[in-house]
Amino acid sequence: MKRTLGVCYYPEHWPETQWPEDARRMAEAGLTWVRIGEFAWSMLEPAPGALNFDWLDRAIGILGAAGLKVILGTPTATPPRWMLTRHPDMLALDADGRPRKFGARRHYCFSHPGYIAECRRIVTLLAERYGCNPHVQAWQTDNEYGCHDTTLSYSDAARDAFRDWCAQKYQSPDALNKAWGNVFWSMDYGDFDEIDLPNQTVTEPNPAHVMAFRRFSSDQVVRFNRAQTEILRHHTDAPIAHNYMGRVLDFDHFDVGADLDIASWDSYPLGFLSDRLEDSAEHKHRFLRQGDPDNQAFHHDLYRAVGRGRWWIMEQQPGPVNWAPHNPAPLPGMARLWAWEAFAHGAETVCYFRWRQAPFAQEQMHAGLLRPDSVAAPALAEAAQVARELAALPDAGTAAAPVAIVFDYASAWAWQTQPQGADFDYFRLVFGAYPALRALGLNLDILPPDTADYSAYQLVLMPGLATLGEVATAALKAFGGIALVGPRSNSKTAEMSIPLPLPPDLPGLDATVALVESLPPGSAVPLQDGGAFVHWFEHLDGTADTVLKTESGRPALIRHGHLHYLAGWPTPETFTTILRDLCGKAGLKTETLPDGLRLRDTGTHRFVFNYAPEPLTYQGIEIPAAGVYWRPL
Ligand code: GAL
Repeated sequence: MKRTLGVCYYPEHWPETQWPEDARRMAEAGLTWVRIGEFAWSMLEPAPGALNFDWLDRAIGILGAAGLKVILGTPTATPPRWMLTRHPDMLALDADGRPRKFGARRHYCFSHPGYIAECRRIVTLLAERYGCNPHVQAWQTDNEYGCHDTTLSYSDAARDAFRDWCAQKYQSPDALNKAWGNVFWSMDYGDFDEIDLPNQTVTEPNPAHVMAFRRFSSDQVVRFNRAQTEILRHHTDAPIAHNYMGRVLDFDHFDVGADLDIASWDSYPLGFLSDRLEDSAEHKHRFLRQGDPDNQAFHHDLYRAVGRGRWWIMEQQPGPVNWAPHNPAPLPGMARLWAWEAFAHGAETVCYFRWRQAPFAQEQMHAGLLRPDSVAAPALAEAAQVARELAALPDAGTAAAPVAIVFDYASAWAWQTQPQGADFDYFRLVFGAYPALRALGLNLDILPPDTADYSAYQLVLMPGLATLGEVATAALKAFGGIALVGPRSNSKTAEMSIPLPLPPDLPGLDATVALVESLPPGSAVPLQDGGAFVHWFEHLDGTADTVLKTESGRPALIRHGHLHYLAGWPTPETFTTILRDLCGKAGLKTETLPDGLRLRDTGTHRFVFNYAPEPLTYQGIEIPAAGVYWRPL
């Protein structure tokens, strides 16, 4: 399959007379795909039942005639205003019980039966009309589930659906009471209809109740998405995607992904660095115009797993965005580098967001490939360059990785439900290991928690995996490579209790977590031979071999054979030391890359990316700032 580029386009924002010229310029730049339609409900159905699809017929016809392939979005992220008149209770409520009102987007509750029926109706109409249209070669469901904190809703519709979910899962109130430990503080229920959502309680609600609500809320997203894919599949053979986000973990993407053909995600490297990462001010300054060197790669690896190998970038930042606290411009070359990094990680397609900067409404300060006056913005030439380069290279997916990190959405919910220390964040913990491994020059994979076989890997990591479960425990037992489990792994049951026997309870490892401590900033636990734990430290009992100790002589890293357990949250430098050592034990060849230089091997080439603001040298080759270099393997 040939790798391709695309762009997000909103024909409904521009006069029709402009469409042919836009289409011509897209094709001229070497773009293959154009995503349209995902916010166009009020144009398709200006009043209930008053359908107006003609303009979309013409837009698809014009784009198709220019040789472009259309990705058609279902418009369910933007219900029109009349929808609210029809279904006044369709809005999500926040945890304080306030409605998330009309006037922006994503103003719906995933559990509202009336709104789901409306979604089925509009998706059916679109699928019937365009399912066999030769220009519509892919579909996107909705837009960015979970964006703007919209997964959790405390509406009446959500409450009713949650009661049903609990009844199906636990079968009797008694079983639910036992599973949640409701005897504590007399929280027992006599009937499923007595159960409310876990908000506005006097003090913290039962963590088991919260965790059940989190699982339920994730299931509601899966259900909502499935309602659309079931309809689309009746009418089209084209692949179906959804565009996920960076560091949004509120629903289980593996579960949603099971109903889709392609995982795609929306990559905004500068926005994420400013808005979503905990890095030091110094790091943020250094990578201000390039983005964090590892955050995109992490999500590429994650979504490759969610898509079971098939994944795209549906939205790629082209210039300054509008939504981060500060919105710098990328260094010249970054719109090219970001695309190449995605391709080197196996992306089939990278679509830039958006074609032309809109001079009106919320995103008027968000750059596009064109300025509002249709003059080319800097990223257009970079996109055209990538298209030419793609055409000249043999097609090859990303190469196999020797190292894997197990990633689990439910663990993110578990540690949000009961952080026990203000800084204990699951993504932050897992992502802490990732740059250390990338700086060693390794290809990485991310694996879902139900992976049954790790034999393709030499090193597997399971940081903070709340509940291992039977599959992961058996996989670990059978694994011949090096494993690093912990901190805090296997320390909760699926119902958010402390398991017995006490954690970590790993095959053959004689160790018990006797006590855990969370650590405020500035209170690190120093390790012997340098290094430190921050945020989190566990006191271990048992006879397992100690590989590393704290300065006061407590076990910091222990092992039984190839299985290692880490008793704290390492600083970035400590993670690097530990992982370099484990890579050595696993027989992996590592490099020591300079800050900002990163590698990824495809089936045919080694790619080298320079995220630094200055030129860096790799094996005698100088790579300019924001430069990409590749050579055959
Ligand atoms: C994405 C979203 C787009 C647009 C973009 C701006 O989150 O899917 O519709 O809002 O951000 O950066």
